[in-house]
Amino acid sequence: MRKRKGIGEIRPGMLICGIEKGNKPSFFMNNVHIKNEKDIKMFQELELTVVYVEEGKHPGGGDPPPMPAGDAPAFDRTESIEHPLHTDGEAAPFSVESLDMEVADDVTDTVPFEEEINNAKQIRIEAQNIITTIMSDIRMGKTIKSEQVNDLIGNMVDSIFRNRDALTSLARLKDFDNYTFVHSVNVCTLSLAMGRSMGFNKERLHSLGVGCILHDIGKMHVPDSILNKPDRLTDEEFGVMKKHPEYGVEILSDTNGIREESLYSVVQHHEKYDGSGYPNGIKGDEIHTFAILTGVVDVYDAMTSKRVYHNRFSPSDVLQRLYQWRGTHFAPNLVERFIKCLGIYPIGSVVEFDTAEVGVVVSVNHGNLLRPKVLLVLDRDKHRYISPFTIDLSGTEAHNIVSAVPPERYNIEVDRLLG
Ligand SMILES: [Fe+2]
Repeated sequence: MRKRKGIGEIRPGMLICGIEKGNKPSFFMNNVHIKNEKDIKMFQELELTVVYVEEGKHPGGGDPPPMPAGDAPAFDRTESIEHPLHTDGEAAPFSVESLDMEVADDVTDTVPFEEEINNAKQIRIEAQNIITTIMSDIRMGKTIKSEQVNDLIGNMVDSIFRNRDALTSLARLKDFDNYTFVHSVNVCTLSLAMGRSMGFNKERLHSLGVGCILHDIGKMHVPDSILNKPDRLTDEEFGVMKKHPEYGVEILSDTNGIREESLYSVVQHHEKYDGSGYPNGIKGDEIHTFAILTGVVDVYDAMTSKRVYHNRFSPSDVLQRLYQWRGTHFAPNLVERFIKCLGIYPIGSVVEFDTAEVGVVVSVNHGNLLRPKVLLVLDRDKHRYISPFTIDLSGTEAHNIVSAVPPERYNIEVDRLLG
């Protein structure tokens, strides 16, 4: 039986099956088992006032609770908002040692981050403008100007080849009101960084980038009433939503100048490694590498974005969740590669040190993912430094990261600090 409770009534042993935001109940989540005070705190940090508790079910007994209708790892208004740190069993955190590959890849940047970042900012603005125009055009029945897309992706690929982190670092920027456009740019950017780390040449990277920036173009044929519905979709509505990969391929098949290989990201990005995805339920090696890669990045960006039905999760938390999903939703090697590509503490992560100081990761050390460069923001008493300063953890043993924390915990305005 489902019971409505105040946030202050959560106790260990409860199964949380829903939340209430803005007086609207939402049940887009798996049952979350409250095991301890830390779990209670996690819910309190979501700034909710009301939760729904499933009574009469034992968390450890019987089959795991069914996923809500339409659950899918790629976040299309159909997803579970299970907190990334909560799974059916114990969390299985990864470490550098647990990642089955060499720490460093053979990527070499030709220009430093500081030199590429302004150029990357310009490319990102251009990308958002172009994808916004393209999606509006599709809504109005116009065709896609593929030259524009190809020029844009060419610029993005060049930037990623000059410096792998500059454009990628900007993918931390989200826009609640323009989610679909910004999400498309982010998925494209992160996929390009992944593709480069996998040794793709520029031509292959180009095909990947075009597919990724257009991966959700089929949503422009899904009615607004479904696309922007704040509540849970009905089975019928979800059936319509599930058609967007095929709508996307239809749109692009009518477009000259789009390579066939790009279409894999569009039509297969919701397929799952274990065959439980859509539209075709293919699995394992049947799913094209481009699509597996797009699917991982799609979920990462969605979960680190604020949506109408969930707050944003921290990058590190989401990487942990993706790691737990490897072998079911995603190919294991791709998840591991993604973590290595972004860093265990991606740029923009808020981290707490063994000194009790708090900082924001400003750049990844690809030779040692546990020791990035960090902008120190709070001192050991959690007072703000008047002039925050950067430390390079690769050059000191005086600071060790203990954990990543949500920015809200200490009111850290990451985007303002990173500029
Ligand atoms: Fe999608």
